[in-house]
Amino acid sequence: MTEHTSTSGFDPHTPAVYRVYQGLSSDGKDAFAADREVAAQLTVLIPAVRQAARANLAFLEAAVRAASQRGVRQFLDLGAGLPRPDRNLHDVARTIEEDIRFVYLDHEKAVITHWQGLLYGEHGAGLAAVLGDALHPDEALALSQACGLIDPAQPTGLIMGALAHFWDDGTAAKTITSYMEALTAGSMLIFSHATSDGHDPEQIAAAKDIYPVDVHPRTAAQIQRLLTDPGPHGPGLELLNPGLVSVHAWPKPPEEGVPPGPPAGLAAVGVKP
Ligand SMILES: C[S@@+](CC[C@H](N)C(=O)[O-])C[C@H]1O[C@@H](n2cnc3c(N)ncnc32)[C@H](O)[C@@H]1O
Repeated sequence: MTEHTSTSGFDPHTPAVYRVYQGLSSDGKDAFAADREVAAQLTVLIPAVRQAARANLAFLEAAVRAASQRGVRQFLDLGAGLPRPDRNLHDVARTIEEDIRFVYLDHEKAVITHWQGLLYGEHGAGLAAVLGDALHPDEALALSQACGLIDPAQPTGLIMGALAHFWDDGTAAKTITSYMEALTAGSMLIFSHATSDGHDPEQIAAAKDIYPVDVHPRTAAQIQRLLTDPGPHGPGLELLNPGLVSVHAWPKPPEEGVPPGPPAGLAAVGVKP
């Protein structure tokens, strides 16, 4: 494993994105009081955020299943977050094809240590977790290839779940474009992103203030451009049906219907033509 400096040292008193997210999306078993406090405040400001975090996990599973069914046999999950106790994305992919390879990448050392413990326990053939910065596409791709699990000549399922909203407009466009330029045709981008659409701007501003790092919720039109703008400034992806939709509604709304009110996140799956 290549050593990168973690962006934050381990400090239970300072909220960390990966622990706040776990507190919102699942059991929060690794979240400390400071993380739980941020999660609680966010939920007051944007009530849809907790449901959206949970729906995001369901979206990622559905999208990984769809990509696996379309023949993708290797995945790189950027900003993977903590592993889940029940099932992870490689488990879902491997219900389609048992040899599917998965590399999990995060810039938090604590996250990668959790993954390595889990994958070691599973005897991890075809699975790896690497410490790296998703903001450096060449390095991140090199790390994934160095494990011997990602073959640059084959289509890759690149996962950016709830990640690109940490980047300003120019950085997000440049980074997404660089990844997709580097990957071969048929590669897929599995993408979810916080949205400001339909939310009170004052509540969005207050939520940004309490979040542990800079965050840039975007409108659907801005997110669509990040995915579909043609080169050299965009990745020119073709979106699978139903396109860019509420994170609750990909690939289709659940039978019980999507929760009322504006969603906190949008989701899409793009294919490199
Ligand atoms: C909101 S969580 C999302 C987790 C998971 N992708 C999901 O959608 O369920 C964001 C994760 O991205 C990681 N992260 C943020 N910026 C990163 C970067 N530049 N490089 C690698 N990981 C990053 C955080 O540490 C955190 O674990």
